[in-house]
Amino acid sequence: MGKKNILLNPGPVNVTSRVRNALLRDDICHREDEFVNLLEGIRSKLLRVFSIEKDYTVAIFTGCGTAAQEAAIASIMPEDKDMLIICNGVYGERMADAAEIFKIKTIKDEYQWGSPPDINRIKAILDREKNIETVSVIHHETTTGILNEIEDIGKLCKEYGKIFFVDTVSSLGAENVDFYKNNIDVCIGTTNKCLHSFPGISFVIFKKELFNQMKQITPRSGFLDLGNYVDDNFCAKVPFTPSVQIMYAFDEALDELTDEGYDNRVKTYKERAHFLRAGIKDLGLKLLLPEDVCSNSITSVYLPNGFTYKDIHGELKKHGYIIYAGQGELKDKVFRVSNMGDHSMEDYKGFLSALKEIL
Ligand SMILES: Cc1ncc(COP(=O)(O)O)c(C=O)c1O
Repeated sequence: MGKKNILLNPGPVNVTSRVRNALLRDDICHREDEFVNLLEGIRSKLLRVFSIEKDYTVAIFTGCGTAAQEAAIASIMPEDKDMLIICNGVYGERMADAAEIFKIKTIKDEYQWGSPPDINRIKAILDREKNIETVSVIHHETTTGILNEIEDIGKLCKEYGKIFFVDTVSSLGAENVDFYKNNIDVCIGTTNKCLHSFPGISFVIFKKELFNQMKQITPRSGFLDLGNYVDDNFCAKVPFTPSVQIMYAFDEALDELTDEGYDNRVKTYKERAHFLRAGIKDLGLKLLLPEDVCSNSITSVYLPNGFTYKDIHGELKKHGYIIYAGQGELKDKVFRVSNMGDHSMEDYKGFLSALKEIL
């Protein structure tokens, strides 16, 4: 089946027919060995992509990125400790909302959307607020497309003995994510963005050495408690009915990524983002962010004069291209173009010529 819509929204993404066809593998019961083997295969392939299988484990469950955010927060935060949340977009805000729902005291380090976090400010907060247990940041803040620098924050966390929790929902697959260099203790992801599969599965990767500490925390949720998905030997537990077919697709998407090579995937993303940005600027449109802070997968563009988002979205949709609106305070100012998923350069050339025609 061909592509009806070229999805230039930040997930769900267009997938290859190889991944789509994986949905048609056998019907199996999640209580049988076949499923456990599938799940263990996925877990080891995922950890192997980042070469972290020795020190990290992963809890995989049916859910979206928000579920993974909540599962991580619920499972790593002791009741009497505080959480520092670096916010420069919607997903940082959502993280803080989730922590507050779990009655965790949060300290928000807020920046204007699109502005990078300030390491000196973070250090000053850590010096002042001695009860902080976890520092969290969104690696790629999909709201604007800024790629937040995590290496220095990771170093600070190591120096101060804090848990470093990174939301990598929209960066895994598209950006270099070095777990060791960045001192990442916990991170989260979903299948339906730069890992090129369908929506429905999310996961939390965490350091094995954290697990004992996590098990001391009184569960705040049954479904979202990571201890329900990993046993003491770091093998998978299957407590609830998982989305089996979506696991098949994820398994295939990981094989596809392994065949392609992670570094090649990142390189392709970077080239595509550059190509799109150059083409958009050639049309006289202005980008929201300086290119040196942009991720490899999202370009936020100021709406052209005389166009609402609805106009431009509707016209592009007639040509088969689905763009994405700005969020919150950027809702009426920008539109977003994502280069996540299975696309060809022809898709981007077609998008740029459709945009030119519309303008
Ligand atoms: C960085 C980031 N975190 C979390 C989420 C939430 O994911 P979901 O919409 O799958 O719940 C998103 C969604 O786009 C995201 O971009």
